[in-house]
Parts: sequence; C-alpha cells; structure tokens
Amino acid sequence: MPPVTETNPLRKGLADSRRPQPFTMVIFGAAGDLAHRKLFPALYNLLVDHWLPQPFQVVGVARAAFTEQAFRQEVRDALTSFSRRPLDSALFDTFSQGIHYLPTDFSDPGGYQALKTLLETINQEHELPPRYLFYLATPPAMYPVIAANLGKAGLNETRQAGGWIRIIIEKPFGHDLESATGLNRDLHGVFDESQIYRIDHYLGKETVQNILVFRFANGIFEPLWNRQYIDHVQITVAESLGVGGRGSYYDQAGALRDIIQNHMLQLLSLIGMEPPVSFEADAVRDEKVKVLRAIRPLTTRDVANFSVRAQYDAGFIDGAAVPGFLDEPDISSDSRTETFVAMRLLIDNWRWAGVPFYLRTGKRLARRATEIAIQFKTAPHRFFSQTATPELEPNLLILKIQPDEGISLRFGAKVPGPEIRIRTVNMEFLYGTSFADAPPEAYERLLLDAMVGDSTLFTRRDEVEAAWTLVTSILQGWSRARGPIPAYESGSWGPKEAEALVLQDGFQWHRP
Ligand code: BG6
Repeated sequence: MPPVTETNPLRKGLADSRRPQPFTMVIFGAAGDLAHRKLFPALYNLLVDHWLPQPFQVVGVARAAFTEQAFRQEVRDALTSFSRRPLDSALFDTFSQGIHYLPTDFSDPGGYQALKTLLETINQEHELPPRYLFYLATPPAMYPVIAANLGKAGLNETRQAGGWIRIIIEKPFGHDLESATGLNRDLHGVFDESQIYRIDHYLGKETVQNILVFRFANGIFEPLWNRQYIDHVQITVAESLGVGGRGSYYDQAGALRDIIQNHMLQLLSLIGMEPPVSFEADAVRDEKVKVLRAIRPLTTRDVANFSVRAQYDAGFIDGAAVPGFLDEPDISSDSRTETFVAMRLLIDNWRWAGVPFYLRTGKRLARRATEIAIQFKTAPHRFFSQTATPELEPNLLILKIQPDEGISLRFGAKVPGPEIRIRTVNMEFLYGTSFADAPPEAYERLLLDAMVGDSTLFTRRDEVEAAWTLVTSILQGWSRARGPIPAYESGSWGPKEAEALVLQDGFQWHRP
C-alpha cells in the first residue's frame, strides 16, 4: 500500500473545511518560555503547511519593554531554536509583517484599552469583523485577572456578523477542586463555556487521537473492549528528565497534579469511554466525563493501600550522574512533593467493573516512554498443559504514545518443529514506517482546532472538575499520612512500593 501523504487528493475536501477564517491571535505572556518553545513554532509550521489565513495577525502581549522590531527578532530567534522545520527567511519575512507587540502589565486596565485600539486598527486595515483568539500563556494567577480585564474592555463578546471571540487557557487549571471550580466561575463570569478552550497538549498528540480511531473505526477491537476479555490496564507516563529549571513550579505541583490530573486521566477516559453518538465536541466529552465520574472514589484507606508516591534520589541517566530531587534548584530541602506516583483505580460500570486500571508516572525514570498496555485474560489452556509450554502468556496490546509511536500486539505462536512449543511473538505497527509525513506537534493541531472553533480536543468544565474531584481526594489522603516519602534511584523504574502495588493483585508492571 502506498504511504498516506498530505497530497492525497482524498483528503482535500476534509482539509478545506478546516481552514480558519482570517482572525487575530493575541498571546498573553508572549515573551515567555511557552510562547517561544511551542506557540510561535506551532504557528510558523501551520503557516508552512498553508493552514494559516493570509494575512495572519498575531499580537504579543507581555510586560517586557520590546519594540515591535525587537519582538519580531525574538520570535525569529525562537523559531531558529525550536521550530520542527528549519526557518525559511523569505517565509519568515511574510510572517513577521503580521507580528505586533504590546508591552503592558496584565493588571493594568489601560493596557486592554490599548489592545482594543490595536485590534480595531488591524480590523479596519484588513476589513475584518472582530475575530479574536486569546491565548493565556501566563502564570496561572493571571488567568482570572486577564479574563476580567478583557470583559471590562468589552473584548469578551461580539455581536457583529461573522465575528467570534475565543480564549485558550493553559494548564495548570487550578491547584485542587476548589481553585479549579473558582477559576471556572471566574471565567464564566466573562466568557461562555463555548468560548473557553482548556488546553491539554496530550490530546493534540496523533497517537492519543488515534485511540478513538483504533477503538471505534475498527470492527475487531471494540467487541473485546470490556471486563469479559480484558484483565487489567496499565498506563505509564515515564520521563527520564528531572524537574530542570522548573523547580519552583514543580515543588508546588508534584506529579499527581502535573501529569495525572490532566494527561493521564485524559488517556484513561479515552480508553474507558463508551462510543460517542457522534464525533461532535460535546458528544465525545459527554462520554469522557462519564468515565471520570464512574471511577470509584478513594477513601483515605484506599489512598494508603492503592497509591504510592515517591521522590527521585541521585542516580544515573544515560550514564551521566544526576542529582536527587531535594538537591535540584528551587526545591526546598524538606520538600514532600512527589516526583513519582503509581495508583490503582477501579471504574464502576458495566464495561469495566473488576478491571483494575494502574497508572504510573515519574520523572528521572529509566527512559522516556508513554504507553497504554491492555492485558487480556489468559486463555484457559488445558489443551496445551501437557505440552512443552507450561505457562501461556496473556495477550498484550500496547498503544505506544511516544516515542517509537505505534501499536503492538503480543500473542503466542507455535515454534516450528514436531512438538507443541509456544513462544510469545509481537505484531507491530509503527507510525514512522507506515506514514510518510512527520506528525505535526500537538500545539499545531490544537491551535488549528481552536482557530476553526472545534473544541473536541479541549477539556470541558465538568471534565476538569471531575478530574480534580478524584485528585483532590488523593491529595487529602496523602496530607493525613505521616512518615517519610519513599525514594527511588534516578534511572530506575521507580520505588519498590510501586512493584508491591501491582503485585498484591498478582501483576507486574510492563517494562516499556
Ligand atoms: C507537561 C508537564 O504538561 O508535560 C511536564 O508540566 C512534562 O512536567 C510534560 O514534562 C510532558 O510532556 P510530553 O509531551 O513531553 O510527554
């Protein structure tokens, strides 16, 4: 079969419906790390792929006192360092014509009047109705401040024909259930839910979107996707990196808030959801939120028995010595923040009752790997018990989210020869060999979706609150626990307590 490419004419009709109308993007926090590393590179690569409307206008808003010219140079430097495709000078010149910069303090109402004037000037020049996409790439404490000021300046709604206003909110969305609910309330005081796009970059990953395709566009998996055939599910998000320069954020957050509350619960809900009635944003999100709500609440005792937290100690990653968490910059020396979490969750519904879902994430683990391992029930193997294969291994389906994106299926095959010997073999699908095009970055996909008003891959209010309900109960359970937090060596697969967690149910972690 020839590889599927972007030039495939069959994709043309679909592609055209996803071309955004001309609009203006406004990035708050435009001088920061996220804008440099992810947002501007995503915009530039969308431009390369002809997805951006022409001319494309983006306004950077931040406190730093750049001139427009200096800011354009900043963006150029960022693209040189972080764009997935090399910078083309001629193309950048076109791109940079549409880059504007507005220095202001986010809490100064005068700045929003200046922004309004600038946006109106852009609209007049290009004969556009008000169409604005605001991106909040700022410290989270600024989210309600910016939203309220946009409202006061009348930049939260438009009645003009053809106009629209949307706002993208970065993570972390809240710190616990109370703060997330409060933030939702603040945002809803100014914007309607249909205007709010809560980003979780995991949902922009091709392999994550493929979970829905894999489950619902194939006839053979969904009939097996339940407690009758599935034994248990393991979801792993392993990172070899430490906290790096983000110590002051991470010490306040920890792995539970940083990875489980958002990325991992999103993976779990995509694996666990019922088929949606359509692929409309709300139909998909309705089903995802039902899974989160069906997770059995954890009592304090459950938290003690079925969750493990730990901190990394010094060790070696790729042969190089790395310091322990407590010796990282900006981490308090008596920090109890977890850099590793493992837990068992149960989903109380007809599809999943009795099927444990194990979640595990950590920094400074042996290697970077995100995967979902679905272990099927073992075949009743009476027929083979007299053969040279005493134990049959269960079938294992692994969705490899990153790196080495792909899917593998493990099954038993007869070893050629006169006796019945069974060996485990793997059937593999690899994105890299089946598809010619390198996948876009998650932010490219998500920005494009927000530009065309598709919120399927963004988290809805009830979803974020359901996730925080679960996570807050675990935080509360942990806050009652005394005693030291277990440690694990950097470069290992986590503490022995995590092994014990699955072993009490008779399992082992799958080694990515
Ligand atoms: C972010 C977390 O949301 O996801 C980081 O804040 C983490 O701590 C990152 O490193 C992982 O993302 P990815 O795409 O590299 O798996």
